[in-house]
Amino acid sequence: MSLVYTGVLSHAPGITGRAHMVENVEKRDEFYSALESQRQDIVNSGAEAIIVIAAEHFANFFMNNMPAYCIGISENYEGPIEDPKWLAIEKTQIPGAPDLGKRITRSVMETVDVSYSEEWKFDHGIMVPLNFLTPRYDIPVIPVNINCQGPPLTPLHRSWAFGEALRRACDAVPEKIALVGTGGISHWPATPDSGKINEAWDREFLDKLMRNDKDSLLSYSDEDTYRDAGQGGFEIRTFITAAAAAGGKGDLHFYTAELPIFAVGCTVASFSLS
Ligand SMILES: [Fe+2]
Repeated sequence: MSLVYTGVLSHAPGITGRAHMVENVEKRDEFYSALESQRQDIVNSGAEAIIVIAAEHFANFFMNNMPAYCIGISENYEGPIEDPKWLAIEKTQIPGAPDLGKRITRSVMETVDVSYSEEWKFDHGIMVPLNFLTPRYDIPVIPVNINCQGPPLTPLHRSWAFGEALRRACDAVPEKIALVGTGGISHWPATPDSGKINEAWDREFLDKLMRNDKDSLLSYSDEDTYRDAGQGGFEIRTFITAAAAAGGKGDLHFYTAELPIFAVGCTVASFSLS
């Protein structure tokens, strides 16, 4: 088995960029320490590369040619695309894993029509997770995008199928691979409702996710998600893909809605692999 770690974590620019503006410092530090434990778990897994399943924010993929899924196969990447001062993450080069990325892409293509790219500038959706999980950028990264942004969005059941295809692909290569899905759950970024979090909705979703209850997870309609969880809620695709790749039950290490300055419910979880 080559998939050695699977988990999920939240991303939002405020998690790094507005760290100094937090009122509940204790809760912030509890969140950061859950992320540090996730980093340790990934290191302890012996992972030689990390697949980051992210939700892009119109930094690389646009409405002239929007892929349902994309895998990065570049030698290296640059990020963040945003102002480093605003995000509080220095611009840097991140090593990729082109050979491994191509083998995984070939395997996924057997069942899912994935696109791939040798050019990709990382936005906060990838840089914020990497800032905590590989702060020295010493684990090669394979970025993966699912269209959570520009409707028509990738259907949830296809996100699930993509996760299963990624799992088969990982298990077919000798390298040890960690996989994380990163998104918000409910959140309303870049809208007048930014900072709002639907905690009840988040907790219900996380309960389904931790039980890895496929039918419940795939039963959300985009209309309901938009109403209850905002346009940021469409990013549940990244969490669902990670659950499908893992196959096992989840373990919720951290969740709070008490850091509204981060404008997202802050989540850290891992899955057992089956
Ligand atoms: Fe996002």
